Amino acid sequence: MSKGIHQQHGLESINPYVPGKPIEDVKREYGLDDVIKMASNENPLGVSPKALAAMKAALPKLNHYPDGANYEFRSALAEHFSIDMSQVAVGNGADDLILELSMAYLEDGDEVVVSRSSFPMYDIYTAAMRARMIKTPLTSGHGIDLNAMADAITERTKIVYVCNPNNPTGTIVHADAVDAFIRRVPESVIIVLDEAYYEMVDSDSFPNSLAYVRGRRKNVFVLRTFSKVYGLAGIRIGYGFAHPEVISTLFKIKPPFNVNGLAQAAGIAALKDSDFVTQSVDTNKIGRQVLCRELDRLGLSYAESHTNFILIRIGLNASTVQQSLLKRGVIVRPCRGYDLPEFLRVSIGTPDQNERFIMTLGEILAS
Ligand SMILES: Cc1ncc(COP(=O)(O)O)c(C=O)c1O
Repeated sequence: MSKGIHQQHGLESINPYVPGKPIEDVKREYGLDDVIKMASNENPLGVSPKALAAMKAALPKLNHYPDGANYEFRSALAEHFSIDMSQVAVGNGADDLILELSMAYLEDGDEVVVSRSSFPMYDIYTAAMRARMIKTPLTSGHGIDLNAMADAITERTKIVYVCNPNNPTGTIVHADAVDAFIRRVPESVIIVLDEAYYEMVDSDSFPNSLAYVRGRRKNVFVLRTFSKVYGLAGIRIGYGFAHPEVISTLFKIKPPFNVNGLAQAAGIAALKDSDFVTQSVDTNKIGRQVLCRELDRLGLSYAESHTNFILIRIGLNASTVQQSLLKRGVIVRPCRGYDLPEFLRVSIGTPDQNERFIMTLGEILAS
């Protein structure tokens, strides 16, 4: 028997998360000068100017540890969203809060229910806790099927993840369906409503998830991030709203200084940057309309997007098309890892980026 070091067995099934390829890597690998990244649903307008100024002002204070309890930051979130501070958690990205939830609530052999083709970090942290992922099929329109998810819950289920809008499909589940789902799920199961992209949604029937948390529902966790609409993916800030008991449980295991000093300053300032949010949402909405119109013109089908990316059906040659785009300096996301091998996910960019993507895609498909 080998006496080597053995990883814990939950990790055996884990493949590392593959992020969108960085611009510098593509420049180096393909000898290109001009590369655009439309692969990670980042904000194409840059960083919130108010957050940027606040980070610059916070630089000289970096000799101190940040506030581990995130008092000012959590107060600012509480005020902004009219919720009690005891119901607010922040993390080193929303990813960190998914990890903390997994560590806090999962044990060997527990089950987690999620839709097929959703955000991969749920799978990774579930496996890391030696729990089992139960996946339900998407609807025919690439939406999350909440009835199928509710049917899949057993007494071993501890967490269910509803990604809304769903990454990578861009679809939403509506308020009525979410309400019926929440009523069906036992109180012993944490329902994570992952709303990383909620600011981009302009549907009247999108759920008012915070109402469940404000109403002190014990098992609803609303997860959000500063990575998208505030343009702060690089500094890593996620936040969540839940019952005070859940927030206190996460406090037991969170790394002591998981949200750094610059991030806390950035988050507080970004909340006041409503101009940047409006500009980002408007640019995205127009970009989405333009891209959908152009995809129609190219005869390509796509899932109905309510957010800042579009899932496009390319066909069996999707990875060849993705590689061809890469060689021409356009980075998009292949969806094989999301169990959708015939699709590419493209993040909505600036008008120039959108135009370049469509032109390049058109040329590749025509050749
Ligand atoms: C659905 C979803 N949840 C969570 C995250 C993680 O966000 P963060 O950058 O805050 O870790 C992402 C990032 O792309 C996401 O798409």
